Amino acid sequence: MSQIESFKSGFSASFGQLIAEQTGLAIRPSAQAALYQKIFQRMQVLQLASPEYYQLMNSKTSESDREWQHLITLLTNPESYFFRDKEQFSLLKNSILPELIQRNRSTQTLRICSAGCSTGEEAYSLAILLTELLPDQEQWNIKILGVDINLEVLQKAKLGLYRSWSFRGVDGRIQQRYFQSRGHEYQIIPSIRQLPQFQLLNLVQPDFSATAVDFKDMDLILCRNVFIYFERSTICAVLDRLYHALNPRGYLLTGHAEVYDQDLENFQVKVFPESIIYQHPNDPIAVQE
Ligand SMILES: C[S@@+](CC[C@H](N)C(=O)[O-])C[C@H]1O[C@@H](n2cnc3c(N)ncnc32)[C@H](O)[C@@H]1O
Repeated sequence: MSQIESFKSGFSASFGQLIAEQTGLAIRPSAQAALYQKIFQRMQVLQLASPEYYQLMNSKTSESDREWQHLITLLTNPESYFFRDKEQFSLLKNSILPELIQRNRSTQTLRICSAGCSTGEEAYSLAILLTELLPDQEQWNIKILGVDINLEVLQKAKLGLYRSWSFRGVDGRIQQRYFQSRGHEYQIIPSIRQLPQFQLLNLVQPDFSATAVDFKDMDLILCRNVFIYFERSTICAVLDRLYHALNPRGYLLTGHAEVYDQDLENFQVKVFPESIIYQHPNDPIAVQE
């Protein structure tokens, strides 16, 4: 039996379970073959047989943390682009952000998170929208937090350098105004680049407050095209954490139909022509009654 065959027969199920526990990622039957290849690739780099590799990944050491980062880079899908889903961005621009700005005008604070931010296009799109909507932005205390489980994408996000593929569907005016050409790539201008903070965070971990990431009291959380990769039970747990990270009347925007079959009783579901959005109630008890 070849090494990869013996890996497939002996360790696939326990590895799938370990990956789901650590990252929330569900390994669908159609993705099994690709998973074998990716894990096998890492075993070869480290020159470890499957039992030793499993042991490493199941240990709580700095070496296993480093190896999880390598594997996560191979397992996650970083696909993103600016103003992804025009309808949802128009809802944000025309209704949600103006409402939040109006509501918070007395405190002049606004806290927004792009959860599963990948290479940063979503967080920078929000930063551009806010810049357009808030002429007195300097007087506001604005937090735009981008979090992701994959360190590699976060490093790219901080750099803010993009190929033209990230601009598909983007209005030429936006690209001209907020990006500078750098050879074949485009870099976000400094005034927008300094707005988001990008930090490592695993949405699946039980308690965000136990981390150094200031993921609380959010007015708006975007968590789009992330739940599609998760196990059902993981989606439920992450939704609960996002709910608790929101301010009363704060909003959660997910990808279309990503959570439609979940228990969303904590939230008020708001239906707009452009998209559904979930709102933390003013009085949480009132929604449950
Ligand atoms: C397809 S991208 C979506 C990017 C962006 N939200 C968008 O819609 O364009 C999915 C991102 O979710 C991240 N992700 C997957 N599992 C995660 C987890 N457990 N915690 C945090 N981020 C996660 C991946 O690393 C990846 O960057």
